[in-house]
Amino acid sequence: MSIAEKIEDLREKLRHHEHLYYVLDSPEISDTQYDAMMRELDVLEKAHPEFLTPDSPTQRVGGKPREGFVKVPHSSPMLSLDNAVGEEELRAFDQRLRGLLKEGEAYAYVAELKMDGVSMAVHYRHGKLALAITRGDGSIGEDVTENARTIRAIPLQLRGHIKETSSDREARGEVVLNRKAFEKLNAEQEAQGARLFANPRNAAAGALRVLDPAITASRQLDYFTYFLLADGAPAHKTQWEALEALKRLGFKVNPHSRRFEDIDVLVAFCKEWEEKRDSLPFEIDGVVVKVDSVEQQNRLGWTAKAPRWAIAYKFPARQEETLLESIDVNVGRTGAVTPWARLKPVNIGGVTVSRATLHNEDEIERLGVQGGDRVLVERAGDVIPKVVRVVRQGDHRMPFRMPKSCPVCGGEIVRVEGEAISRCINTNCPARLKESVLHFAARGVMDIDGMGESLVSQLVDSGLVKNVADLYRLTLEDLVELERLGTKSAEKLLKNIESSRQRPLPRILNGLGIPFVGERTAQFLADAFGDLDKIATADEEELQRAEEVGPKVSQSIRRFFHEKHNRELIERFREERLPFKYQAKRKVGGPLAGMTFVLTGTLPALSREEAENLIESAGGKIAGSVSKKTSYVVAGADPGSKLDKASALGVKVIDEAALRELAERSG
Ligand code: IVH
Repeated sequence: MSIAEKIEDLREKLRHHEHLYYVLDSPEISDTQYDAMMRELDVLEKAHPEFLTPDSPTQRVGGKPREGFVKVPHSSPMLSLDNAVGEEELRAFDQRLRGLLKEGEAYAYVAELKMDGVSMAVHYRHGKLALAITRGDGSIGEDVTENARTIRAIPLQLRGHIKETSSDREARGEVVLNRKAFEKLNAEQEAQGARLFANPRNAAAGALRVLDPAITASRQLDYFTYFLLADGAPAHKTQWEALEALKRLGFKVNPHSRRFEDIDVLVAFCKEWEEKRDSLPFEIDGVVVKVDSVEQQNRLGWTAKAPRWAIAYKFPARQEETLLESIDVNVGRTGAVTPWARLKPVNIGGVTVSRATLHNEDEIERLGVQGGDRVLVERAGDVIPKVVRVVRQGDHRMPFRMPKSCPVCGGEIVRVEGEAISRCINTNCPARLKESVLHFAARGVMDIDGMGESLVSQLVDSGLVKNVADLYRLTLEDLVELERLGTKSAEKLLKNIESSRQRPLPRILNGLGIPFVGERTAQFLADAFGDLDKIATADEEELQRAEEVGPKVSQSIRRFFHEKHNRELIERFREERLPFKYQAKRKVGGPLAGMTFVLTGTLPALSREEAENLIESAGGKIAGSVSKKTSYVVAGADPGSKLDKASALGVKVIDEAALRELAERSG
């Protein structure tokens, strides 16, 4: 096979597997196999740039951020639909239609779920993606081609028959974000202190219209098609055939679409989905009903804004207005203090709602909401209801203020600068104790084998463990009292707890659960101070002498040791004789001094931790990502993208054997 053939062969295979994965949702190969194939293609294309084409599967995110969007006209207007609310109005639509057609003329409907997203038109020339346009005002939209390319459900090249792909086609459909991706996105926004999206539709609209395609790519948008056009007009005789053709061309079509000849069955279908809407991974807000025959569609025609041959059966809104009685806070498993709205109970689509989430202080400010206001509340799927907006301000308003002390334990509540979330920083706060104990005992922290979720739950619930130091007071009698713990396991567990007393200071520091102090920072702190008491009493400036500790981290450490309960815990640790002192292991010199290493893939003999220890004890440093400053990338089996980065930057790549050799050279 020539290089060009090899490249085309890989592209074909990748397109096939992308279609299976992203469109049909039934992959045949593992992600690793897919990634390997993609990398192989990428390497070949980089070595032979003369063969690179924009429709290659490697070119989903090629574009650079742009300055703005170019306006482009649609091939024919993208109209909207008239609504039918309830069965009566749907039947009235059917009657009207019957009147417009010939006496006794047969007709059929195609019903499609009305996905709640934003519509977009995608044009193909000679079978290749050429242009993607937002709906805009219906006549003119914006060119978002580079962003659309990042959506995996949009083929860069049409599949199927030459006959269909030789001429130009336009697919119209809905860009959506599924609920999971939406929740994840909002969680990320929240963690970064960024604004939350009100619903998946807004999030999809935003992601489609960002100037940097890399952001669109990260949002996991999806695309479901419902029209197939040639020169602005339907390319097929019926809507049903169009949906079939769209599937053959490689597009996603909502699998719940159906064809009906009987209005009663159609009504039943609409009602069924009204009931079942929560079971879908996507938000839908109704059912779109279209006359199947294009010839009949043309005879029925259009009004100024909508076709006469189609209607949107709208589900009742799941938003209701009610009184927001007060804003209270809840302390979560990680100590996060989240405000929530106590509501006058209200029925929203069959469910009584008496509380709604408000996420954080910024969200409250954005909404401008206070206790006593009338608010609009929305319920979507099984997610916690949320406040959409203030409808009318109350006469006696009560502004929200984040409490200074935790309502559960009285501990100090802290909001670190630049963070959206406030936290109770008492590690032993009952609201977060289980989570604290699990973290303390975890692998790589204090390594207490056998300390799993159900055991921790029992220990905390029974009152045996009120703070992590209590673990060291547990007796055999205590433990055998617990459900499902035999004498043998109890003895073993006690032994494991006992041996955890030997863990060095960095592990203890990590185990405390200080915000922003993980394994790495804990090590740097121990290296720099060598004594827990010194760390606990150092001021911010002193703390910043430790490697990688900046203002945000030092502030967090200061506040942690300022908190009364945490100081008590340190005293308990002292009584338990946990090692407060630490002798920095790292050699100043060593054969790897001044070198930075990045690890990727699975090494043949060394675990990741062992490899890191080897490097560090020989004086080298570990970095998380490859840069020009990286001395070596150590690669094992199934390496990640770090390897590509290394070759792009010309960083040397070595294997485990070569690493050992370097590390063992004498000085
Ligand atoms: S047909 C001329 N089909 O709902 C017909 N629209 O108000 C125009 N939508 O703007 C649209 N799923 O954003 C059609 N299967 C579907 C749809 C659908 C969702 C959206 C679309 C459109 C709005 C109609």
